[in-house]
Amino acid sequence: MEHLAVIMDGNGRWAERRHLPRLMGHRAGADALDRCMHYCKAAGVRYLTVYAFSTENWKRSEDEVSGLMKLLSGFIASKEKTLVKEGVRFRVIGRRTDLSEKLQGEIAALEEKTKGGDFTLVVALSYGGRDEIVRAAAKLAGRADPSAPVTEQDFASCLDTAGIPDPDLIIRTSGEQRISNFLLWQAAYAEFYFTDVLWPDFDQAEFDKALESYSKRERRMGGRLK
Ligand code: FPP
Repeated sequence: MEHLAVIMDGNGRWAERRHLPRLMGHRAGADALDRCMHYCKAAGVRYLTVYAFSTENWKRSEDEVSGLMKLLSGFIASKEKTLVKEGVRFRVIGRRTDLSEKLQGEIAALEEKTKGGDFTLVVALSYGGRDEIVRAAAKLAGRADPSAPVTEQDFASCLDTAGIPDPDLIIRTSGEQRISNFLLWQAAYAEFYFTDVLWPDFDQAEFDKALESYSKRERRMGGRLK
């Protein structure tokens, strides 16, 4: 498997069950992400995309939104050296102009510093699949010759994920079985894996189970296997 994508759900419930503030759940979620990156590398997965903040997440309390933004900014500051050392290329997808100018600057700097990495961590921030598709359509409409025919490849090259292969497997934790506006275009042929485990508890055993389930699937991609 080349590309794993994860909807990291259940941080809030993980914290509530421990009578902790929700933000502690997101912190534990960030640690789980760190571990997941290592499982991926060891398993030969080359791309990991995670849903860290959706276009809808802005509706959460001001405290939670600012806490999540601080967590992201802290992640960027504290991880820079490790990411470079471990050959992790960092990339953000989503409507990044929604983010503070400071955070946008930190993201751009980290993307630049890590661009030589051979493992790619894609973080979806202020991301919505429909929003990404609409922005791609607007880009295409702005071409020099807007009446020229458009191929699927042309369209894909206008998405935030340009150059990144489609996900092979999408995992969603915490028992929800929805796509929630994540990678709508890119998920066309993805396999799905759902687990009741909350994201902060997602460990090596859970990762192995997901990969094992994936390895048993027959992927026809719309064609027929002989
Ligand atoms: C969903 O759980 C999770 C989120 C909205 C945020 C995910 C963010 C992280 C794990 C932060 C780390 C990311 C980086 C890149 C450092 P929820 O709050 O919806 O949980 P609930 O459904 O139990 O309330």
